[in-house]
Amino acid sequence: MTLKRCFIWLMGIIKTASDKTISEAALLLKDGDLVVIPTETVYGLAANALNSEAVAKIFKAKNRPNFNPLIVHVADIDAAQEIAEFNARALSVAGEFWPGALTLILKAKKDSGISDLVSAGLDTIAIRVPAHKVARALIKQAGVPIAAPSANASGEPSATTPRHVNDSLGENAPFILGAGACNVGLESTVLDLSEATPKILRPGAITAKDLEPYLGLVDYDLGHKDASKEEVKSPGQILKHYAPSIPVRLNAIDLNPDEALLAFGPIKFMGIKGGGSAANLVDTAIRNLSEDSDLTQAASNLFTMLRDLDSVENKGIAVMAIPNEGLGIAINDRLSRAAEG
Ligand code: TXA
Ligand code: MG
Repeated sequence: MTLKRCFIWLMGIIKTASDKTISEAALLLKDGDLVVIPTETVYGLAANALNSEAVAKIFKAKNRPNFNPLIVHVADIDAAQEIAEFNARALSVAGEFWPGALTLILKAKKDSGISDLVSAGLDTIAIRVPAHKVARALIKQAGVPIAAPSANASGEPSATTPRHVNDSLGENAPFILGAGACNVGLESTVLDLSEATPKILRPGAITAKDLEPYLGLVDYDLGHKDASKEEVKSPGQILKHYAPSIPVRLNAIDLNPDEALLAFGPIKFMGIKGGGSAANLVDTAIRNLSEDSDLTQAASNLFTMLRDLDSVENKGIAVMAIPNEGLGIAINDRLSRAAEG
């Protein structure tokens, strides 16, 4: 085999989303194969949630521990109600925020036909109606609920472009439905409504403030890296997450030599220890999440820029402080996990 052919064999095929490729993908899903799909948050590694063999392929392809449950993606609230027990609170937020970047954790219905692997033995299920038009068209055509975690190897940053999917999963994601960069760029907000107090288990673009008019007080329960498997509400919280291969340092006010800079806002006054200015860093050592300090722009750039800076030229990544409000809460959550990794 030539080097070039070998290279192609190790990569997935990126197929630009069109009516034809969406139909192709729908057939693959129905047949029990994996397909990478674009969503408004991040790319997802999708399988037919009714088919245990197909769902098992997801865990294998990502090298994901089987105790970490998956999100089921459906077309609308009616389809969601076939899978989960909706209470009044769930109906009100679903009505307001779906389709969109909100995942609800609800008690699972027992006879829904969803593979037991999806919930990893919990009596709850994570469910969301994505807003991306390609994802929506695909779910409708496939006619089955779709289990899909983020399309990256377990522990790596989520993929927000088809290239990132390929870099992370290679031949383990053979069919990628490509539709450019994901709009939001951060994974959905995970909201647990299975107990008395609504809790955000993973912050995202939809914040506690957005949800409180519908739910009253919303708590955060973001887990802790030292918590045991039994203590956490969301199994994904205890895993090493979103981590580049070099150290990540937060709230940096200056740089160490050979450290790359992930900036937020103006960098005019940022210096390098021992002499030098961040403004003179080479291109491979600097990215700015948003020169205008815009949190929406920063969220959509976060994973791409972390990947860009995660290179052999850099000894670490220093990240400037990001305000801990609105979307900044979700950005800081991902960054603090990256720093722990
Ligand atoms: O934006 C997103 O949510 C993307 C796109 C593809 O939809 N998906 C995604 O999936 O980020 P994943 O598997 O990477 O993250 C799902 C998170 C994990 O932390 C998992 O532990 C948690 O949701 N989760 C899933 N089911 C749960 C359940 N029944 N109870 C508590 N947490 C659950
Ligand atoms: Mg993930």
